Amino acid sequence: MSVEKLRLLYIDSDEDIARLVDRGMTRQGFDVVHAASGEAGIARILEGGIDVVALDQYVPRPDGLETLRRILAIPNPPPVVFVTVSQDSQIAVTALKAGADDYLVKDMHGDYVPLLHVAIESAMRQAQIRKARDDAEAEVLASRDRYAALAAEREVLLREVNHRVGNSLQIIASLLHLQANSSDDDDVKAALSNAMGRVAAVAQVHRRLYTSHDLNSVLLNQYLEALLEDLRRSAEGNRMSRLTLTSESIEIDPDRAVAIGIIVNELVMNAVKYAYPDNPGPIHVQLIASRDELQLSVADDGVGLNGTADPRSTGMGQRIVNAMASKLNACAERDPTHPGTRIVLRFPRRDESATLKGLSATD
Ligand SMILES: Nc1ncnc2c1ncn2[C@@H]1O[C@H](COP(=O)(O)OP(=O)(O)OP(=O)(O)O)[C@@H](O)[C@H]1O
Ligand SMILES: [Mg+2]
Repeated sequence: MSVEKLRLLYIDSDEDIARLVDRGMTRQGFDVVHAASGEAGIARILEGGIDVVALDQYVPRPDGLETLRRILAIPNPPPVVFVTVSQDSQIAVTALKAGADDYLVKDMHGDYVPLLHVAIESAMRQAQIRKARDDAEAEVLASRDRYAALAAEREVLLREVNHRVGNSLQIIASLLHLQANSSDDDDVKAALSNAMGRVAAVAQVHRRLYTSHDLNSVLLNQYLEALLEDLRRSAEGNRMSRLTLTSESIEIDPDRAVAIGIIVNELVMNAVKYAYPDNPGPIHVQLIASRDELQLSVADDGVGLNGTADPRSTGMGQRIVNAMASKLNACAERDPTHPGTRIVLRFPRRDESATLKGLSATD
């Protein structure tokens, strides 16, 4: 490292030694400036242009240690070599702890200036390393802040996208509803309102994601409650006497929530349509969690599955339930002990295969 033209501030009240240092360090290529008191030294540093400081312990107004503290309180202070006459290492330790970059014991036998030169070089190296470390730390912090800001922005955007997708799907559901109402054909009406229910089930997941604290998961009980509320308000819902939900608070990824929502929609609509041909009766949706398995069931106390499909049946519902169940690694089973119809699905709590990550309109 070249020390040419570097400016050394030497703070010491001893004029003779100051002259000695001036001569010796000038020979080493330094521009030496002398201050006879702590205050004068600090004032000189504040003027700027000082590259390194050698500070005597016994300098007056204020003493060496206090002067050191005040120098280090200046923003971007120059490195400081603390000079002491005492062999007492305690003073050196105190100075180093206070922030001096190096220390030196003043000996009066002619070695002082070369030793000071070595100490100054070492102090400047230390300061350089410290600055490089501080710069690197500042860069890491700035990168972290930039990353946090980007992540926050991305989350806001994702929420916004989910909100819009939810709204758009809701518009599609409303259009299907309008079209169903304007048709005179009962089969067309039924097909369109079935499609509406399926689209609404997906829309509800996106609306949940807009308000959920975590974009990677949906609170299943809240989602199902909102979904059932949609079903109660639908045209067919008028024929329901009681649609109830029992569910533990369970978080699940959005793709699996969509599959569960669609299954619940199908099974509840089946119960509404077929379970109670005469008077509406209760329909109960239940979600139970064990350590690594979820159990979903939809039950009614109606006529039960008698094996012969309703002539109005398209068989579409069954196919949709099976497709969604296989996405959940579940199979839908009828509970033979239940009077009426109870369909039960059991599936792993977590999506180990991650095959649902790509669930899309084309799936
Ligand atoms: N809860 C239920 N109670 C009585 N019968 C049912 C019940 N659920 C389904 N079924 C019978 O099973 C048949 C098949 O149901 P599925 O959902 O596959 O078709 P769908 O409901 O008739 O047609 P889609 O679902 O396309 O409207 C129905 O036609 C009905 O006869
Ligand atoms: Mg059906």
